[in-house]
Amino acid sequence: MQAFFSASETFIQLIGTGGTIAGHSADPSDELGYTAGVLPVAALLAGLPLADGALAGVAVRDESLAQIDSKNMRWDIWWLLARRVRACLGETLCRGVVITHGTDTLEETAWFLACVLGDVAQDKPVILTCAMRPASAAQPDGPHNLANALVAANTPGARGVLVCVAGELWGAQHVQKNHPTQLAAFNAAGLPPVATVEGHQVVMQQAWPTLPSWVRATSEALAAALAHDDAPPKQPWVEVVMHTAAASTQLLPALGAAGIRGLIVQATGNGTVNDTWQTQLGVLTNEGVVVRCASRCASGALLGLATSEDKKGQTLSGLTFYPGLNAAKSRVMLMLALLVPPASHPD
Ligand code: SIN
Repeated sequence: MQAFFSASETFIQLIGTGGTIAGHSADPSDELGYTAGVLPVAALLAGLPLADGALAGVAVRDESLAQIDSKNMRWDIWWLLARRVRACLGETLCRGVVITHGTDTLEETAWFLACVLGDVAQDKPVILTCAMRPASAAQPDGPHNLANALVAANTPGARGVLVCVAGELWGAQHVQKNHPTQLAAFNAAGLPPVATVEGHQVVMQQAWPTLPSWVRATSEALAAALAHDDAPPKQPWVEVVMHTAAASTQLLPALGAAGIRGLIVQATGNGTVNDTWQTQLGVLTNEGVVVRCASRCASGALLGLATSEDKKGQTLSGLTFYPGLNAAKSRVMLMLALLVPPASHPD
């Protein structure tokens, strides 16, 4: 790895935000009780398992943007990160951006970036990576994940916002954390990875990800905001509520009365809610609250009327959903949609 770089050299920008990959414990056998986000990202570059020449002619420039446990990820940090990534991608010599991040909310950051960067990330890759064991562990997984992410960012033709973990690359739309402790903690709810990374090479399993067309207008409006505004826009109040057996009848009217702007209903099965919730959601919608749904099933995708990757979906009972997005990412989508004029809204 090169310690110094010249201003005329092609580079990958490495941006640290914290997470377990930068986590530390005094005890190398401790894989659970560590503190996340302790090390600056520069420290993660030491001794990476990269073969000589794996990044030939490409410098890695590093910067620590935040050092947090990703459970503490915030709206303002998202916007700061997006602006920084956008600026880096705009530099001709930048091949792509790699971001180190905690695993717990990584999929939300990935989708946020995919939406707000839009076309800017359609020419070059933005690759988030992470670890399930802290950097201080006897056998940390972070160095391998980071090395793979750098290799992926340096791959000709790579583009879109992706997550690189445990030798696999996942697109931002479908990726989700699916296990609290295993090293291969991520999947795409049943879909194959975009690619695998084997022996410092990216082996494609699908095409590089593109933004679904239902996000495009929102994304274009947000990209303009990202280019011009310094302060992040005010975060719209959007919550996720889970529909369950014996569901509470007080929750939805209380949220409406309190002034909520958007609601993601994590519905049962293929997007079902009981009759009371169906009625209460209708009332909220009439009052101006934007209601969308996702499934509480961990795998598979909601199927509804005219559902396709490129069209908004609608459940049989008339609830609208964002195809391929779980509840947490649907919340990100709805917050972003509420920032732009209705004409740019994904539905
Ligand atoms: C975090 O999300 O920052 C902590 C957990 C992890 O990275 O695995």
